[in-house]
Amino acid sequence: MSPELLRSPELINLHPSLGDVCTAVGQGLARRPRQLPPWLLYDQEGSRLFEAIGQQPEYHLTRLEQHLLQHHREQIRDCCIQPNPGVPWRVVEFGAGSARKVAPLLKALQPAAYVALDISATHVHRACTRLQAIHPHVPMVAICCDYHQLTTLPDHPLLQGPRLGFFPGSSLGNCSRPGALALLRHMAHLLGPGSRLLIGIDQPQQQPHGVAALEAAYDDAAGISARFARNLLVRLNRDLGADFAPAGFAYQAHWDALEQRIEMALVSRVEQVVRITALGETICFAPGERLITEHSHKWSPEAFLSLSQKAGWGQLRRWCDHQDRFSLYLMEQAPHLCANL
Ligand code: AVJ
Repeated sequence: MSPELLRSPELINLHPSLGDVCTAVGQGLARRPRQLPPWLLYDQEGSRLFEAIGQQPEYHLTRLEQHLLQHHREQIRDCCIQPNPGVPWRVVEFGAGSARKVAPLLKALQPAAYVALDISATHVHRACTRLQAIHPHVPMVAICCDYHQLTTLPDHPLLQGPRLGFFPGSSLGNCSRPGALALLRHMAHLLGPGSRLLIGIDQPQQQPHGVAALEAAYDDAAGISARFARNLLVRLNRDLGADFAPAGFAYQAHWDALEQRIEMALVSRVEQVVRITALGETICFAPGERLITEHSHKWSPEAFLSLSQKAGWGQLRRWCDHQDRFSLYLMEQAPHLCANL
């Protein structure tokens, strides 16, 4: 194997500037209820804590999806007929994080390149370095960015060719319903004509035990989910010179049946005043006032079909677990509906 590929993959750093972070925080805190964009959760410590959430017994999503990818990798490969025979795909992962899910795809598809996009530079670069050692023949590049804000994919040799987007983990759920439509359209634009998208989505639960399991997944007994949310305040204290008292907020995750989503929030235990130096602002929290850290919207197969069609994606296949809790969808830009959906 070429020693070239054993080096750490290249990192392209397009992280939002401190000014962009300030704008996002200022706008989010001005909303009622107050709500910050989820990408702020993923500083280095946040990415580490999120990885730990995936290993909690209550957070079943990661295991369900890993199983689907592992179990159906040959079928996924067979459904990914090369657009031009002999020209392999470039796998582009959105929000790669620790890049622990892509291995079955790299093995089965043998893509021409793997491109990992993530908001956390150190985290995604480390992940690619680890992955490169295991898959020395797949050229890789890590791109630190907020993929919502990216106007085009960087003009990089590894990106020249047909692209297969990979968007696992139900990360789409972080978007509002209109936001999800915009993001899927944006991905179609970023990936370009003829591209495909393999996306993992978890489904709403209607039965009481399903709801209880879902709420537990977002508020594990070991308290990792709560630490993940409070780390947002620690980050704002460090990066924006704020003086949040993380212990002054209780963590709450609840299922909103009307909106079909989990709402995760930090709830102020008392009346408190927080100074944010970089914004030159002072914020007052009333007792019981929420700061929403994220939403996790669930999509039924019917709702997701209509969403993806509106966004210009035709569904080729759906794979799901036997309890119909989590689905993997393979979609292509030209609408092309498949009988076994
Ligand atoms: C990364 C958005 C997919 O909604 O399940 C999990 C985020 N936050 N536990 C999810 C999350 C706390 C996660 N996504």
